[in-house]
Amino acid sequence: MRKISISGKGGTGKSTLTSLLSYVLSEKGYTVFTIDSDESNPGLYRMLGFNQSPKPLMDLFGGEKEVSEEIKRRSANAKTERKSEWLKRDNFILEEVPGEYIVENDNLKLMTVGKITTAFEGCSCPMAEVIKLFLEKLILKENEIVLVDMEAGVEHFGRGVDKSLDVVLIPVEPSFESAALAMKISILARQSGIRDVWAVLNKIPSQAVKEKLQERLNKTGVKVIGTIHNDPVLSETSLEGKPLRESQAKEEVRGIVASLLQNGVA
Ligand SMILES: Nc1ncnc2c1ncn2[C@@H]1O[C@H](COP(=O)(O)OP(=O)(O)O)[C@@H](O)[C@H]1O
Ligand SMILES: [Mg+2]
Repeated sequence: MRKISISGKGGTGKSTLTSLLSYVLSEKGYTVFTIDSDESNPGLYRMLGFNQSPKPLMDLFGGEKEVSEEIKRRSANAKTERKSEWLKRDNFILEEVPGEYIVENDNLKLMTVGKITTAFEGCSCPMAEVIKLFLEKLILKENEIVLVDMEAGVEHFGRGVDKSLDVVLIPVEPSFESAALAMKISILARQSGIRDVWAVLNKIPSQAVKEKLQERLNKTGVKVIGTIHNDPVLSETSLEGKPLRESQAKEEVRGIVASLLQNGVA
């Protein structure tokens, strides 16, 4: 099955889209493994109705120090001994990931890469390395889907995080920057070898705005797979830090999932 990332500018709706896709796909019977790969924003577990995040995958790979060593080993092609079993492995299936790294509700499962928690703790390179290693080594079974809520911006493309992905979805809100970044992401994703790249128009207030945004994206060669209108239910639940519930947006995401399936995404 497929590894899908949700990428884009900060605040455009990556976590919201990731959560709604997680709900809809798991309700359809897929086993969905959602990975929180944003080292800054803490809220994804709440949107998905969990009380807390699981233990970070950073620890699975031996902790920040060991992962930093791995980055040095890889760049220098050094043969120094790896301490972490998981760094030594060529591949794994999700059933092998220990339970403490996953919180789950039936077939909706959440993992997290890790968060920056203290000042001066250094750059986020080890976090990027963890998600890169995880996606690289992971072998998916029939019926399993991975959704990665990516950190904002495009730095992850530069680090090669995306090379094991099959699909990139880009939420685009009606702003010049968001549309411009969508074009850049679309190019970088193709350079990373990903063929299936689509924008999702988000927070759309009117037909006129939808048409303008669509036209701009079309001109820059970005394909659009669906639209989510501006939905006051989302603002309310977001402010309260509550799980996303039935809403017009969720119904629209059901339509987006249908289009993705038609395009052979799962
Ligand atoms: N379609 C929408 N209608 C209304 N509010 C939305 C919509 N999509 C996202 N939002 C709101 O926008 C804010 C940013 O969304 P979020 O998913 O956290 O973005 P990101 O993960 O890209 O930073 C949140 O308050 C969210 O509730
Ligand atoms: Mg987010």
